[in-house]
Amino acid sequence: MSHDWYSDFVNSGVGKAIAGNVGLPPVPILRRWEPGQPLLSGAALLGTATTNGRVAKIVRAVLADAGVEVHEDPAAPIGGGSSTSKVAAAIVDATGLSSPSDLAAIQGFLTPCMKRVGASGRILVIGDVPAEADRPAVRAARRALEGLVRSAAKEARYGATVNLVHVADGAENDLESTLRFFLSSRSAFVDGQRLDVGVVPGTASDFSGGSSAGTDWDRPIAGKVAVVTGAARGIGRTVAKTLARDGATVVCVDIPSAGDALARTANEVGGTALQLDITADGAGEAIVSHCRRHGGIDIVVHNAGITRDKLLANQDTDRWNSVIDVNLNAQLAINDVLLASPDDTGFHRGGRIVTVSSMAGIAGNRGQTSYASSKAGVIGLVDATAPLLADKDATINAVAPGFIETDMTAAMPVGTREAGRRLSSLTQGGLPVDVAETIAWFAQGASYAVNGQVLRVDGQNFLGA
Ligand SMILES: NC(=O)c1ccc[n+]([C@@H]2O[C@H](COP(=O)([O-])OP(=O)(O)OC[C@H]3O[C@@H](n4cnc5c(N)ncnc54)[C@H](O)[C@@H]3O)[C@@H](O)[C@H]2O)c1
Repeated sequence: MSHDWYSDFVNSGVGKAIAGNVGLPPVPILRRWEPGQPLLSGAALLGTATTNGRVAKIVRAVLADAGVEVHEDPAAPIGGGSSTSKVAAAIVDATGLSSPSDLAAIQGFLTPCMKRVGASGRILVIGDVPAEADRPAVRAARRALEGLVRSAAKEARYGATVNLVHVADGAENDLESTLRFFLSSRSAFVDGQRLDVGVVPGTASDFSGGSSAGTDWDRPIAGKVAVVTGAARGIGRTVAKTLARDGATVVCVDIPSAGDALARTANEVGGTALQLDITADGAGEAIVSHCRRHGGIDIVVHNAGITRDKLLANQDTDRWNSVIDVNLNAQLAINDVLLASPDDTGFHRGGRIVTVSSMAGIAGNRGQTSYASSKAGVIGLVDATAPLLADKDATINAVAPGFIETDMTAAMPVGTREAGRRLSSLTQGGLPVDVAETIAWFAQGASYAVNGQVLRVDGQNFLGA
């Protein structure tokens, strides 16, 4: 991992003064999650756009349960402080919009909030799903929230983030894990993004996809069995550690030549190691068979990935195929085996699949036609698999990391690396733990209403591998 000397400099006493004088961009130190940390480190402001809002009541209940003090007037003094004293979060219930004129109430609430939300604070806008509206004025108003949020995220300072959650009609009671993720420091590097919380088909009495009732938010996946591919190093190793921290037994998978490093990760997390090339014939069966000793599989994280970068003009088919095989075909084959496996000894009902895409798969990247194809393909895989898994009360989602501080990005030329860091709205690269926290949240039983989503973890930057 390459050190961010610029961040050290602008955060030092003398560097801060120089940076302030010559207008160099500051680099906020982001608050990150640790077990025992409160959901928010201060009070929250809660606003409503209309009288038809569906979610303010639920947000209030979640905040009360987390011991957060809630205020409604963004311009009023709080707890003996002044009308400018800082708050930890501002949340707007923006459901129920009937025309673009309703947006003014959101602007009126958020304008003072932009100055009041403190360091690593959270601004969260919760709106209706645009596609659920037929009337042009309603859909326009709903869609407008995305432009508002993406722009406000670029204006927020001191490590504060601004995100948008769309809640489907009827899904308002299924928001808790999503609210907790976006408000907590687990989402430190998720900025300017949109996520949809959907209605879960068949949440009948036999639904086994999870519940937020009784969740231990410090160990939300306690007792679960998680498989992480590519766990010997990099992001995969951090994912294994994060899932173990959250309570799971972790099966660490990597190629035989990474066996020593793999054993180290498995020992660190108190899990087991499975040496396996995921492209080998029978890889899915080998995973299911290994996991029988743990009683089956609850969570699979498809993290293993490779790059074989070449300009398309110089590309050869062997290199092309190796990237598509590891990053895409192996996942498809393993998922087929998981879906066909028995509920009791294989992939359990209510299971979670999380896969790692990349910004390259969304934005494209010079020299990365093969990698970007594979990572865009991962998004197609998620789209098509989500409805298949709904029958099993299971979910599949993808995380799309941007510039993350790893050995891979340390090998970039210094100019590209600096651009990767500074062009983010948070003026820095993300850490492997930022990707891992997002994966761990998708993996929670309480995230049963989050299915088929792709969430960028990139500080709102479009550069990355
Ligand atoms: N580092 C970044 O900035 C970044 C950005 C976007 C996406 N990603 C994605 O995140 C994931 C992890 O990236 P990383 O930076 O930690 O990479 P890494 O190269 O450090 O680790 C990848 C791991 O996957 C393993 N692996 C490769 N081929 C395998 C196979 N056939 N079978 C089993 N294991 C195999 C490797 O041995 C290695 O341990 C990848 O999917 C990558 O594409 C990374």
